[in-house]
Amino acid sequence: MKVAFFSSKAYDRQSFTEVNVNYNHELKFFEALLDSETATLAAGFPVVCMFVNDIANAATLEVLAKQGTRLLALRSAGFNTVDLKRADELGIKVVHVPAYSPYAVAELAVGLILMLNRKLHRAYNRVRDGNFTLDGLLGFDLHGCTVGIIGTGKIGMVFARIMEGFGCSLLAFDPFPNDKFESIGDNARYTTLPELLSSSDIISLHCPLVPATHYIINPDTIEKMKPGVMLINTSRGGLIDTEAAIEGIKSHQIGSLGIDVYEEEEALFFQDWSDSIIQDDTFQLLQSFSNVVITAHQGFFTSNALESIANTTLGNITDFEQGRLLENEVKYKPCN
Ligand code: NAI
Repeated sequence: MKVAFFSSKAYDRQSFTEVNVNYNHELKFFEALLDSETATLAAGFPVVCMFVNDIANAATLEVLAKQGTRLLALRSAGFNTVDLKRADELGIKVVHVPAYSPYAVAELAVGLILMLNRKLHRAYNRVRDGNFTLDGLLGFDLHGCTVGIIGTGKIGMVFARIMEGFGCSLLAFDPFPNDKFESIGDNARYTTLPELLSSSDIISLHCPLVPATHYIINPDTIEKMKPGVMLINTSRGGLIDTEAAIEGIKSHQIGSLGIDVYEEEEALFFQDWSDSIIQDDTFQLLQSFSNVVITAHQGFFTSNALESIANTTLGNITDFEQGRLLENEVKYKPCN
């Protein structure tokens, strides 16, 4: 099928072109971010392939539907930028990649924890600068810490197992508990969100961004956390009220923050702004703190994950082409 790729980067072109040898779709790569204006590029393409910051709101979907697009193939797990209700009304099917490598994201979350705890970002620069002092680099043993996990799906479970390996106690909150979680170890148990917040030394977010989880980290929940808590978000920016996090850092309630996602990331991430003046004051303030580490949505970015994403996405498109059941369809549910 003819597939219009939006927000494509060199690594997308490489992984999809290599894997497409087994699928034979006709791929056209556009660098533009998908929105209601750039949607016109997809005229004549029955399939549009989009990534995390492409915007498939009602206006975009209406343009795509008018031009004949019938399938929106997300090459991501999250689908929070798609207006599923409007897609359903317009007869556009939506498919996604529910799992590719939960290890990729969980391991990045652990990387952020190690970096923040042992101040590796500061230590690296110091040694390169000929400064071999240790003041300000004091960390703590992860062994014996309590780690709070919000969301125990595929990524949360991998993360939980790794942290158990460090000798941490695990507390989890998930409205749909996973019966394998508590068997990870003697020190793994489900609890309420308030208890998780007040008892955890480290809190890591692994839930999707849906109305119920938007700003799950807000002034009220931050106040309930242990003073000096480490907060990690590799899921979606909208889970954290960034202004509230900044206040939490300034008051020392949040001891350190590691984020791979940011609520206004569409305007910044996946692009090179190194020759420009970044206009997002909130982002600039956030990254000025030495106890904050920000990565630019690279949790998914391992070779294993890219190959798996390409295989599932192209397989989803073949299923659609051949009228098969869409195993990875994201259906509109009126309660969403
Ligand atoms: P999953 O669907 O396997 O697990 C999500 C879990 O969150 C489920 O167990 C669900 O019951 C739980 N949940 C739902 N509502 C909740 C709530 N209100 N409070 C607590 N838990 C709740 O998803 P998976 O694959 O583990 O991915 C988690 C998130 O990671 C995705 O939604 C996506 O936003 C993010 N992600 C980030 C990537 C990156 O590159 N940084 C790459 C891939 C995913």
